[in-house]
Amino acid sequence: MKAAAVGQIPFLDFPAHVAAIRPELDAAIARVLDSGWFILGPEVEAFERELAATLGARDAVAVANGTEALQLGLTTLGVGPGDEVVTSPLSAAFTALAILSAGARPVFADLDPKTLNVSPEAVDRAVTPRTKAILPVHLYGHPADMDPILELAEARGIAVLEDSCQSHGALYRGRPVGTLCGLGALSFYPTKNLGGLGDGGALLVGDPDQAARLRLLRNGGQSERYRHEVPGLNSRLDELQAAILRVGLRHLTSWTERRRALAAIYRAELGEAPVSLPEEQAYARAVYHLFVVRHPRRDALRTALRERGISTLIHYPTPLHLQPAFASLGGRPGDLPVAERAASEVLSLPLYPELTDAQVGTVAAAVCEIAPALGGGAA
Ligand SMILES: Cc1ncc(COP(=O)(O)O)c(C=O)c1O
Repeated sequence: MKAAAVGQIPFLDFPAHVAAIRPELDAAIARVLDSGWFILGPEVEAFERELAATLGARDAVAVANGTEALQLGLTTLGVGPGDEVVTSPLSAAFTALAILSAGARPVFADLDPKTLNVSPEAVDRAVTPRTKAILPVHLYGHPADMDPILELAEARGIAVLEDSCQSHGALYRGRPVGTLCGLGALSFYPTKNLGGLGDGGALLVGDPDQAARLRLLRNGGQSERYRHEVPGLNSRLDELQAAILRVGLRHLTSWTERRRALAAIYRAELGEAPVSLPEEQAYARAVYHLFVVRHPRRDALRTALRERGISTLIHYPTPLHLQPAFASLGGRPGDLPVAERAASEVLSLPLYPELTDAQVGTVAAAVCEIAPALGGGAA
């Protein structure tokens, strides 16, 4: 017998998110409208300062989106045609697309099964004489194990850029991710922990010369109006988005605490369920961009949850080496077994600051009821 539907629990709830901060958003938007200045102005400058201070970076350079933050970061590190960049096969495809846009070749290294972040040993094996940079991704809000990666990079003279698009404010051994190697990319896509009402991105930067170069590159390479020193991009953040993100930044710490509290409820309520839960490693303070469980019969679990009005998503159903866009790199099924198995088992449950404790309880109870009947056991 099918259990009765328990009402709609969306995967994300943007109307609730906007409603919670609506008066502040209205004031910020009105301020920009009244200013008559719309691209790279005082709001962007203030946002860069406040972002760097909040996330513990020396400087921040705002750009148009996370993909271009990655591309420009790689370019600043000297990555270009003929170079290889080692990265994770379980990420938004934009991570690897940014490597292609920088003119280089993505090389995928398999994952640490405990975190689904790139494994330092696999990165080590993937390095060749052509490797110019390593691009670890802090997936789902949980830091990658960075010290071994930084050590091997230093020993071999390879640069590192952190993809921190999903991990605003996460800590690795007490240090903020995105600042561990002097260059970290952030996305402010609306679903992110700090999300805009449109596209946006930034780089956290440790070196003032690199920050100056990034400010040049994001604006077409212009040092002054109509003088283009180098061929840059148009990757400017607009004033409206910066003003909106400044509002969000004021709430980021409390949103992160709420995400962690909801994750703790999931963890407590799903303790007995035959699903694998995300494990926060001793070196990490995660920010739960996503709460991702694993089950060998993931698709059946997802369908049964949907029948009860509970929305879930899959991050990500296809590892990048098997995506058509990267076919020319020659990836084959079986190349990266940990990533391939993860892609078939991961399921993201709803988790966002506006979700209530009761809603999390409802989702967890449904998983507890459905998962044992599916068989297969924990992943
Ligand atoms: C891990 C990761 N890297 C890169 C990106 C690209 O960011 P954006 O969508 O802002 O270009 C995203 C988000 O889509 C992401 O989650």
